[in-house]
Amino acid sequence: MAAPAKTGVVIKLGGSVITEKAKPFTVRKGVLERLSSEIGEIWQAGNWVVIVHGGGSFGHPVASRYSLHVGKSSGSPPMAISMVEDAMRELNREVVSHLIKAGMPAVGLQTLGVAHASGGRLDWLNLPVYESLVSFGVIPVSYGSLVMDSSLGYCILSGDDLAVQIAVGLSAKKLIFATDVEGVYSADPKSESAAVLLPRMSLSRDSIAFGSASNDVTGGMKKKVLSTGPAVQAGVEVRIVNGMREDVLKQAAFGKPLGTEIVL
Ligand code: ADP
Ligand code: IPE
Repeated sequence: MAAPAKTGVVIKLGGSVITEKAKPFTVRKGVLERLSSEIGEIWQAGNWVVIVHGGGSFGHPVASRYSLHVGKSSGSPPMAISMVEDAMRELNREVVSHLIKAGMPAVGLQTLGVAHASGGRLDWLNLPVYESLVSFGVIPVSYGSLVMDSSLGYCILSGDDLAVQIAVGLSAKKLIFATDVEGVYSADPKSESAAVLLPRMSLSRDSIAFGSASNDVTGGMKKKVLSTGPAVQAGVEVRIVNGMREDVLKQAAFGKPLGTEIVL
């Protein structure tokens, strides 16, 4: 199937933005409501939109309870599959219903049903489903989650990796990561007050200090930046912006050079 004709924007809503990462199973409803209305404006401007969201305080605590990390082999009970998926479906339901309330035809897509991995890496993604939905003006909403893996049994696929593969597969124009800081800094801005924001970050030239991601089973900001490689290489404009500040996501989608652009 051909890639959708209109301009495409893939948006990854970080778990740090839509949930309170330190409080298990807590959605930031006000933030989600505001972001839904910004996404509505992006979509109404004639772009096709795909949303991917992270696990935040839903997926991460459950995945770490079962010792599941990216690429880790399965030694956990089958209950892990059920519990991680159930937690993520609950969060997905919240995201989808906020988008519908804001007037958008959003449809939750269960990641386990549209993606598969091998050795901890995505090896199959049902792109035709995304293509058909966006060609109907629908907004598919997927999420980082547990997927079946032909060598490991199952593994955690981050929303960042999923968003990158969707953006590449559908030839999106932009891929925007909304997170809880302004972008990529010279060091973790939460622990280094002297850290400076980088308007551009080169994957091949810049070496950045990243803070640890102790309660994050998918590796935090470092992993997010490194995962963008295939999209940058494919010519997708990739940006990491602050989703906690009003209108930043919307303005970034409309071309304002906010946050950090990731380049080769
Ligand atoms: P999300 O949940 O939005 O996907 P993460 O929590 O995984 O995002 O990563 C965002 C966090 O990464 C920020 O809250 C920040 O404290 C941390 N971080 C660590 N190192 C850096 C850095 N060099 N630049 C920006 N943020 C960093
Ligand atoms: C993690 O996805 C999914 C699970 C832990 C089940 P992400 O890695 O995209 O989540 P956030 O954005 O960091 O919360």
